[in-house]
Amino acid sequence: MTTETYLDRLSKLHKHSQQVIMDNQQPAGGYLACPTMPDYQYSWFRDGAFIAYALTMDGIDNMVPHKVGISGQWDSADHFHRWCAGIINGRADALERTINRAEQGQPLVLADTLNARYEDGGNAGPDDWPEFQLDGPALWVWSLAKYVEVCRITPLPVAWVQAIKLVVRYLSAVWQHPCYDCWEERGDDVHISTLAAIYAGLGAAHHLIPSLDVETTQQAIREFIVEKGLTPNGELAKSVGLDMVDANLLMAALPDFGLLAPDDPLMVRTVARIERDLLAEGHGVHRHLEDTYYGGGAWVLLGLWLAWYKVQVGDASAAKDLLRWAESHADAEGNLPEQVKDRMFAPSYYEGWVAQRGEIANPLLWTHAEYLIVRHSLQRTAS
Ligand code: BGC
Repeated sequence: MTTETYLDRLSKLHKHSQQVIMDNQQPAGGYLACPTMPDYQYSWFRDGAFIAYALTMDGIDNMVPHKVGISGQWDSADHFHRWCAGIINGRADALERTINRAEQGQPLVLADTLNARYEDGGNAGPDDWPEFQLDGPALWVWSLAKYVEVCRITPLPVAWVQAIKLVVRYLSAVWQHPCYDCWEERGDDVHISTLAAIYAGLGAAHHLIPSLDVETTQQAIREFIVEKGLTPNGELAKSVGLDMVDANLLMAALPDFGLLAPDDPLMVRTVARIERDLLAEGHGVHRHLEDTYYGGGAWVLLGLWLAWYKVQVGDASAAKDLLRWAESHADAEGNLPEQVKDRMFAPSYYEGWVAQRGEIANPLLWTHAEYLIVRHSLQRTAS
């Protein structure tokens, strides 16, 4: 009889993460957010951006063989990027109308904006969803820049250039508008995490197409955040006017084009408050203090995101603790969920969500993506 060691388990979890992601890529290139939850059977720009980023990095160290000889992970990421460019370019007329309206100071028309999630064939999902979210397309460009760098794609496909330019014009025109945040909440607010994603997306776009002018908008975003986006204690705020943090503020330290360096004092202060207010005992991370979604449990994906941040500030030991906690929440097949219910902020809400949507999303592809990202970044620091 062989006993499974800790390392065997990890290697299985790693392979399972690759597998879950690739098995749930759709024929046209989108990734299902979660194959088992009906409401999550769509592809989100945001989830997909992190998934493609994870595959891009994972393909460097752990190439999965692919039939035409390139890494399976890169092939998958490439397919996703083509899908995104297709969706965006397919809505060029509508987005141009939105850009026009925003530039004229007219109210936006939702039907002419980008949705957060799409069916693989390109149709929007049902209307009853908080679709207007600006972080998604920005994160797509951020993720694309990493793919282009790692895989040395040159010249850029024409469709990508067209989509990147359109996203830059769209985001530059609408960034100040209230929208739903990356948790699809508080649609009347302006969220600092969303602005941080837009900032990173613009920087990535400029890197990909140096002739693009993004500096004016980036500068305006910075000034806006300094003026309106801080808590009284000088942390980044969840949204304008709130004395509260949200774990999604980790978005401000995205690698390469982030708003803040991971060790910038403002980022350090913000993460300290996230840890104080939102780090669950035992290591998962809650989204925010008012979270009631599935009882407001500890998110595995956020525990991993914090681990990624810890690697970036050189604290591999904290990162490993967070990683181990996430690993301990893999089920028997190795599936990692969105969140866990052993630590809930608002337990009385849990059953209601189960009745409405079914069990907590599991496996969540984005969680598996964060897992691959942390593994890759830890491996890099060790070597
Ligand atoms: C989360 C979003 C995510 C979506 C799909 C929602 O519940 O709040 O961040 O994009 O699920 O995973």
